[in-house]
Amino acid sequence: MTETIKIFDTTLRDGEQCPGASLNHDEKLKIAAQLEKLGVDIIEAGFPIASPDDFRAVNEIAKLVKKSTVCGLARAIEKDIQTAFEAVKPAKKKRIHLFLATSDMHLKYKLKMSRAEALVRIKEMVSFAKSLTADIEFSPEDASRSDPKFLYQALEIAIRSGAQTLNIPDTVGYSTPTEFGNFIKNIRKNVRGIKDVVISVHCHDDLGLAVANSLAAVENGARQVECTVNGIGERAGNTSLEEVVMALKTRQDFFKLKTNVKPKEIFRTSRLVSSLTGFVVPPNKAIVGSNAFAHESGIHQHGILAKRETYEIMKAEDVGVERNRLVLGKHSGRAALIARMNELGFKLTQNELDKTFERFKLLADKKKEIFDEDLEALVVNEISEATAEWKVESVEVTAGTGKKPRAEIALRNSAGKIFKQKSGGTGPVDAAYSAVNKIVGEKVKLLEFRMDAVSEGIDAQATVAVKIETAQGRIYSGKGSHTDIVVASVKSYLNALNKIIAGKERLKVVL
Ligand code: KIV
Ligand code: ZN
Repeated sequence: MTETIKIFDTTLRDGEQCPGASLNHDEKLKIAAQLEKLGVDIIEAGFPIASPDDFRAVNEIAKLVKKSTVCGLARAIEKDIQTAFEAVKPAKKKRIHLFLATSDMHLKYKLKMSRAEALVRIKEMVSFAKSLTADIEFSPEDASRSDPKFLYQALEIAIRSGAQTLNIPDTVGYSTPTEFGNFIKNIRKNVRGIKDVVISVHCHDDLGLAVANSLAAVENGARQVECTVNGIGERAGNTSLEEVVMALKTRQDFFKLKTNVKPKEIFRTSRLVSSLTGFVVPPNKAIVGSNAFAHESGIHQHGILAKRETYEIMKAEDVGVERNRLVLGKHSGRAALIARMNELGFKLTQNELDKTFERFKLLADKKKEIFDEDLEALVVNEISEATAEWKVESVEVTAGTGKKPRAEIALRNSAGKIFKQKSGGTGPVDAAYSAVNKIVGEKVKLLEFRMDAVSEGIDAQATVAVKIETAQGRIYSGKGSHTDIVVASVKSYLNALNKIIAGKERLKVVL
């Protein structure tokens, strides 16, 4: 029988941890629902001790998700573990994932702990977690730079104390495929009791090797892969879920393994995560980039026409790509909108549906053809603005050759009060942002600004993604869409500012 590789998704924990990717509560719930639909085995929903917001999100996800296991992360500290347990408690299937670094570098400089003390801590904390719930995962952080003999000892203690999954992280993305494969092979050879537990891997992409390292580990006996949608995560990111899943599927002849992920849900999940985090997927990104299935060169096109397999190893449809399918227009009613939203996988509340329908009607007045991408943008605007402190009331700009760019902006706060400001700038967007700054009063630096068309055609909506940095050096991303590019620019900026105002100050822990 073909063995199954468990897919452990950490988009909502390691992915959300990366600078600028912070998600609000509703956004996390929407992603969790889609991850379950995608078929991931385990959803690492967050780090509950980090903030009350993180706790609440993990707890709500635990109530919502039925098929996937819901996991909460904890340091090897009693309070963290207890909090993680309380957060995942309502889940049908729950897991606590606790970690403690085992490399001398981390022990000496970060934890200020001896090797002997670390072994005692692992024993006590894994046992404590096990007293709360059955499914326990233990990670020796920075495993790939740990002394193997000490690591084997730590892993044996974790197994004896009740861990059922041992996750081997390449925390700083330092390893290489042959080395990491051998590392896993040696763990299987040298750790007593390892045959009774699942070996998992968690690779970072600092050298661009996270997927290759994960697959090398799988070839050597790892049976769980930790990954994130679009590969988002700390620094250069984590192992990309879609790449691992499609490599295992496309090269089933080589790996002889399968996953429970439904490939047709991959593209939709990627879009949702990109829209909600504001992290744009590069066009050349494997599997989900906009060019991943495009064939521009004449030689390739000729080959494809003669026989698709000459240049294509996967079909775009396999991962759920449906390009710009025209769905609705000005005369489409509520029922048609609801039906298409369901097909697109958006589970909206009645209130969200009402608001999205209003937005849809306004858009249909401006734009003849409404594509799936437009609907996604509408929903994303709705989800991110629902609980926002500031919303756009009106935007007026004057600009052009020989004119001094000016903007007049009106914003509405959550109490319903409207504030207006005027400002000049180097261009209409700069003037608009400067007027917004006068109203909101946050001191930030604009780090990135990127504009794309949501769909095809001259009347397409624009989507703007920004990254801003606070005086304290924290980075936030924002995204907004509109048929008017200046309005889209203001919406995305405000989306990022609203995340700062939501005040999601987190516990500062180095993972
Ligand atoms: O990268 C890492 O080591 C982690 C652990 C918490 C698993 O994210
Ligand atoms: Zn990590």
